[in-house]
Amino acid sequence: MDIQLRDRCDQLSNAELEALFAAAGLGGRKGDKIRRAFLNSQLVCLAYAGGHLVGASRALTDGEYHGFIYDVAVHPDYQGRGLGQRLMQSLLARLPVYRVMLIADQDVQGFYRTLGFDKYCDAMARFDMDRLYDLAPTEYQA
Ligand SMILES: CC(C)(COP(=O)(O)OP(=O)(O)OC[C@H]1O[C@@H](n2cnc3c(N)ncnc32)[C@H](O)[C@@H]1OP(=O)(O)O)[C@@H](O)C(=O)NCCC(=O)NCCS
Repeated sequence: MDIQLRDRCDQLSNAELEALFAAAGLGGRKGDKIRRAFLNSQLVCLAYAGGHLVGASRALTDGEYHGFIYDVAVHPDYQGRGLGQRLMQSLLARLPVYRVMLIADQDVQGFYRTLGFDKYCDAMARFDMDRLYDLAPTEYQA
């Protein structure tokens, strides 16, 4: 499998990201919001096969203590071949910090366990649902 990893967003289009996230089951992300989130992230790792985006991941960090990984997605046609691990290893190599956190549904927790992650129960979160989508609710529900 000839996969190219990139750590820059210069060739990243929103249409590609939207299609990848929909294919990987992380849909519901419409508009340019996902691409902006990648652009605003300090670390990204993008995977291309034949010039097409087949994997993505991103992270935020203070460079000393904390890192947070988001939006790890591999296209279903490329899953199960070690690409998710390569994306994660690329981010982790650039996160020399005390604690790296992420949020994982139960069905993918085994994947993160292979990379040394474990449950961490003290996390808390606050949500502003109005900021989840880029478009008016009538547009993204259509
Ligand atoms: C989760 C995901 C990123 C894994 O990517 P992948 O390329 O298929 O994973 P890899 O081939 O690199 O797997 C690495 C290891 O994790 C294991 N693994 C992969 N997915 C797993 C899962 N869902 N549950 C348990 N173990 C899993 C593999 O068996 C492999 O183990 P091994 O090293 O012992 O052989 C990918 O399945 C995906 O994009 N899923 C949909 C989107 C998603 O849920 N992302 C996570 C958001 S939190």
